[in-house]
Amino acid sequence: MQERLQELQAEALKKIEQSANVKELNEVRVAYLGKKGPITEVLRGMGKLSAEERPKMGALVNEVREKISQKIEEKQAELEDAAVAEKLASETIDVTLPGRPVKVGTHHPLTKMIEEIEDLFIGMGYQIAEGPEVEQDYYNFEALNLPKGHPARDMQDSFYITEEILLRTHTSPVQARTMEENQSKGSIRIICPGKVYRRDNDDATHSHQFMQIEGLVVGENIRMSDLKGTLEVFAKKIFGEDREIRLRPSFFPFTEPSVEMDISCKICGGTGCNVCKGTGWIEILGAGMVHPNVLQMTGYDPKKYTGFAFGMGPERIAMLKYGIDDIRHFYTNDVRFLKQFAKHE
Ligand code: DAH
Repeated sequence: MQERLQELQAEALKKIEQSANVKELNEVRVAYLGKKGPITEVLRGMGKLSAEERPKMGALVNEVREKISQKIEEKQAELEDAAVAEKLASETIDVTLPGRPVKVGTHHPLTKMIEEIEDLFIGMGYQIAEGPEVEQDYYNFEALNLPKGHPARDMQDSFYITEEILLRTHTSPVQARTMEENQSKGSIRIICPGKVYRRDNDDATHSHQFMQIEGLVVGENIRMSDLKGTLEVFAKKIFGEDREIRLRPSFFPFTEPSVEMDISCKICGGTGCNVCKGTGWIEILGAGMVHPNVLQMTGYDPKKYTGFAFGMGPERIAMLKYGIDDIRHFYTNDVRFLKQFAKHE
C-alpha cells in the first residue's frame, strides 16, 4: 500500500510538472485528489489494515495529498504568472503613435447668436426673463393694448388652442407678465429670449416657429434717447463699430411712439445694393416707448413711470451677420452648415 502511494505521488508530480496550462492542471487535480481518484481508493482500502497500521497509513496518505496539492498550487501560480507575462508582451502599446482625433460638436449658430446678445445686455445690467410658449390671449394681446377685434391682431396670424389660449406670437407677453408680477412696481431691466409661433408658410425668410428676443426697461425718467443709445450700443457691438443706425417712425399697439431701427448696409456701405434693396439701410427690429395703457394695465402709474421696449428676431440678426440666405438652414441642422460656425467658437 505504501509503495502504491509512492508511485501515485511520483506519477502525480510528474503530470503536474508537464501541465501546460491551468486547464490541464485542473484535470490532474481532479484525477488524483478527486473523490473517484486513486488516493481516495487507497483510503477506502484502509479498513483492511490492523489498528496499529491504520494511523500510520492515514498520516502517509495525508502527507501525499498535501504534497500533491502544494505542488499543484505552485504550478498554478507559475502558469498564471506566465499567462500574464505573455499577455503583457502581446499587448504592448506604442505611446508615440498619434491619437485618433475626437469629433466634437459645436454650438448651434442660433444659440451662439442668442448668447452673444444675452451677454451684451447682461453686461448692461439686464436680467433674463422667460414666459410660457402656450400663452393666454390676455398676455399675448390684451395686456399689450390689443383688445379683441383690434385690427393689428391680424399682423400676427396665430395658432389658437382655445378661444383664450394660443401659442404666443411674440415674446412681448413676457413684458406684461414681468410688469404685472413686479410687486414693488419699481424699475425693471430685462431681456426675454424664446420661441414664438405664427401661422406663416415656411420660405426663405418665414418660419411658423422662430425665436425672438424682447427687451424692456421701466423706470422713472426713461426716455426715447435712452432707447436710442441702447440700440446703438447693441447694433455696433453685434454688427461692427462702423455701422450707423437710424430710427424710422412705425406703429405697434404696445408702444407710443413706435419706431423701427435700421442699420447701414455693410455690403454697399450705404450707397444702395440688392441686399438693402437699393436703400442703403437694413431693418433690424421694432421698438418704442411703453404705451401708457400697458403701464396702467400691469399696475404701473404712467405719470410716474415710463419705459422702452424692443423686439428682434435672432435668426434675422444671424442671417445678416453671417450672410445666411435661408432661415430654414437654422432648423434643418445640416452638419455642413453647422460646422461652418465652429470657427467662431
Ligand atoms: N412684438 C413685436 C413683433 O413681434 C416686436 C416688437 C416691436 C416688440 C416693438 C417690442 C416693441 O417690444 O416695442 O412684431
